Amino acid sequence: PESAHRDADGALVLGGVPVGDLVRSYGTPVLVIDEGEVRRRATALRDAFEKAAATHGTSVRIYYAGKAFLCTTVARWMAEERLGVDVCTGGELQVALGAAVEPSRIGFHGNNKSVAELERAVEAGVGTIIIDSAIEIERLAAITARTGAVQRVMLRVNSGVHAETHDFLATAHEDQKFGLPLADAAAVVARIRELPGLEFVGLHCHIGSQIFGSAGFRESASRLLDLHAVLLADGPVPQLNLGGGFGIAYTRVDDPAPVRELAEGIVGAIAEGCAARGIEVPALSFEPGRSIIGNAGVTLYEIGTIKDVVLEGGSRRYLSVDGGMSDNARTALYGAQFSARLASRDGDGEPVLSRVVGKHCESGDIVVDHEYLPADAAPGDLLAVPATGAYCAPLSNNYNHVPRPPIVAVRDGAARVIVRGETVADLLSRDAGIWEPESGSE
Ligand code: LLP
Repeated sequence: PESAHRDADGALVLGGVPVGDLVRSYGTPVLVIDEGEVRRRATALRDAFEKAAATHGTSVRIYYAGKAFLCTTVARWMAEERLGVDVCTGGELQVALGAAVEPSRIGFHGNNKSVAELERAVEAGVGTIIIDSAIEIERLAAITARTGAVQRVMLRVNSGVHAETHDFLATAHEDQKFGLPLADAAAVVARIRELPGLEFVGLHCHIGSQIFGSAGFRESASRLLDLHAVLLADGPVPQLNLGGGFGIAYTRVDDPAPVRELAEGIVGAIAEGCAARGIEVPALSFEPGRSIIGNAGVTLYEIGTIKDVVLEGGSRRYLSVDGGMSDNARTALYGAQFSARLASRDGDGEPVLSRVVGKHCESGDIVVDHEYLPADAAPGDLLAVPATGAYCAPLSNNYNHVPRPPIVAVRDGAARVIVRGETVADLLSRDAGIWEPESGSE
């Protein structure tokens, strides 16, 4: 986070709180979220897109994608910063509602929402349900027929653009579970429009995650606008949602564009596309998650053991920390790249090529694949892994019965727990077995 700096002793300070204080209070590992950074990034995105939208004669709503990391406190921050919240399960919906997020500012996603989840969403007055299949239309129609509600819906389509880090492939990527092929969409929208309990408001498309630049979004928008224009012939299409996916810097090589550039690039292209087709620019929405919370999170670990492994042409140091793939599965799952810093002090000596590994029983249990760390890093030192705010806690697990770490928010020199850490007793509380040692068996 931007607030990170070192104090006079070389120790890292996060949100005005020295890491030593954090670790004394909460132990390690601990996921620290810089509240100021989350709010700044949320408002910067919102402001940039609102400005671009106003320039092109339309409006925009930013929904925070809760899957990146959701708890009641973060949902509150988003509501306070005038963002909506995008949820994709009944559980996420419950968190958003529990945080008193205005239901009309919630968007509900998912390729297999249950009837119970849909009922809950309709009952709660969720603003938009993003329909992901033809079957879901009939389920929602049955619910609204029963309750008399009119539910606003969008249809998720597959633009065929599939974007990933640094580049996008404008090839047929229809072979996946989300959304409907563009070619099927007009018939499906016609069915939605027949139903009195459903109000069709527009198309939705999400092309991927950790995307740099606006090219993928522009290409996707152009394909959606062709369909959007066709749909306008038979009724209103007031909105267009282009999903999330804005990339962030995990390591020095990642260089995301400033949000103003991104917003103008995407919104400007949509406005041009609309002008070319002679249609009005719809109200826009986006669903960023990672770009709001990712860089605001830092995980602090304690170094436990150190080994130097001699390799051909050099050596590699293995630094084992007291967490691993249970609190950050992204490296093991996706080969994700993270960086690491000695956090308790500056450190001395020629930096050594190091691999930060966890405590789990699996050789793929890597947190940071390669990083040069000070030669004198030692057991007991604290290690910081930045950019762990998104998709680390949500993907966390209890492999090897390791409890999940606490999540602590820092701001202006103060820290508070926003999600408490698990204990082994929490894990055992779900264990239905009753074991009694046999008396007198010795
Ligand atoms: N909207 C929809 C419909 C999505 O599927 C996603 C992400 C987002 C918005 C938010 O995307 P973001 O702005 O956060 O990139 N677990 C993976 C990422 C999975 C993303 C899934 N969908 C990871 O750790 O990289």
